[in-house]
Amino acid sequence: MSGCQIDPDTIRPIRFFNGTCQMLDQRLLPTEEVWHNYSDYREVAEAIRTMVVRGAPAIGVAAAIGAWFGARDIETESSEQFFAEFEKICALLAATRPTAVNLCWALERMKRFAAANLDRSVMELKIGLEFEALAITQEDEQLCIKLGRQGQSLIPDGARVLTHCNAGALATAGYGTALGVIRAAVAAGKKITVIADETRPFLQGSRLTAWELQKDNIPVTLICDNMAGYLMSLGEIDCVIVGADRIAANGDVANKIGTYTVAVLAKEHNIPFYVAAPLSTIDLSLADGSQIPIEERAAREVTHLKDVQLAPAGVSVRNPAFDVTPHRLVAAIITERGVVRDDYRQGLAGLAAKS
Ligand code: MRU
Repeated sequence: MSGCQIDPDTIRPIRFFNGTCQMLDQRLLPTEEVWHNYSDYREVAEAIRTMVVRGAPAIGVAAAIGAWFGARDIETESSEQFFAEFEKICALLAATRPTAVNLCWALERMKRFAAANLDRSVMELKIGLEFEALAITQEDEQLCIKLGRQGQSLIPDGARVLTHCNAGALATAGYGTALGVIRAAVAAGKKITVIADETRPFLQGSRLTAWELQKDNIPVTLICDNMAGYLMSLGEIDCVIVGADRIAANGDVANKIGTYTVAVLAKEHNIPFYVAAPLSTIDLSLADGSQIPIEERAAREVTHLKDVQLAPAGVSVRNPAFDVTPHRLVAAIITERGVVRDDYRQGLAGLAAKS
């Protein structure tokens, strides 16, 4: 572990250094900017589980890097034995968080690469997996930029845009999905104000979204989660844009807990509710959102704020980390390959099939 200052120009939660990677500890933002060094896949798995790194695309990137580190340490000359060990490493990384499908998507891609190259030496496989992990990282930022361009025309000049959780640079390799669309709208010369839900209990909105938008000089106003409906009723929200952790084939969207509430409120007030996500977030193997596994996290995240106790000891707690928004509440899904509306089943399958 080591501490150092963040690069002031570009927000990227993961960076490479001499065959190791460094991750910005997102549990400590916005008050402390601390980077930790990682070179062991078990430590990367723990960083994903404890949310040092979080956000669907970012945990996919982190898992790919973890898989590369694990591969590097496998001691065998046999490609078949290497692959058997590599699968175990990927299984451990995949078990860290269940909802965001990007995690499994990235690990499957790493395994596919290894499986397709078993005729090569173990050394060549290790080098190839390093390149694959770096490619996943670089492609993620590039596709966020494309996704931003695809979606920015949906955001009118002067819009006051509500977002929930953090689907920004911190949740990806860089630039962000929902916040990427906002960044692209700002880059196109539009005057945009973001309203950030604080996003209890982990506070991704107040700690992370407010932090990264302030760094980019994009105007942001923080609200508590229970204020969104009132602001909508006052006509102070023009559209909503959020990210996603997994989108089923019919367009049902799993995202941070509270997203469903915002979508219902938006429908009631005739406010468009947009979802921005890369194709790696779309899980065509699931017919609808009822099949998406929803992570339940520790009760302590609800009963405590760091070490401050907010609830009586022993109280019964539910802490689902995500919810599912039915596709009928979603005005459009924005991907790097295009925007889908209405017939999500056909539209999403069509985009996934495009090369
Ligand atoms: O629990 P988290 O912080 O990993 O949840 C993050 C979200 O729900 C994001 O909205 C989602 O992953 C999209 S990030 C581009």
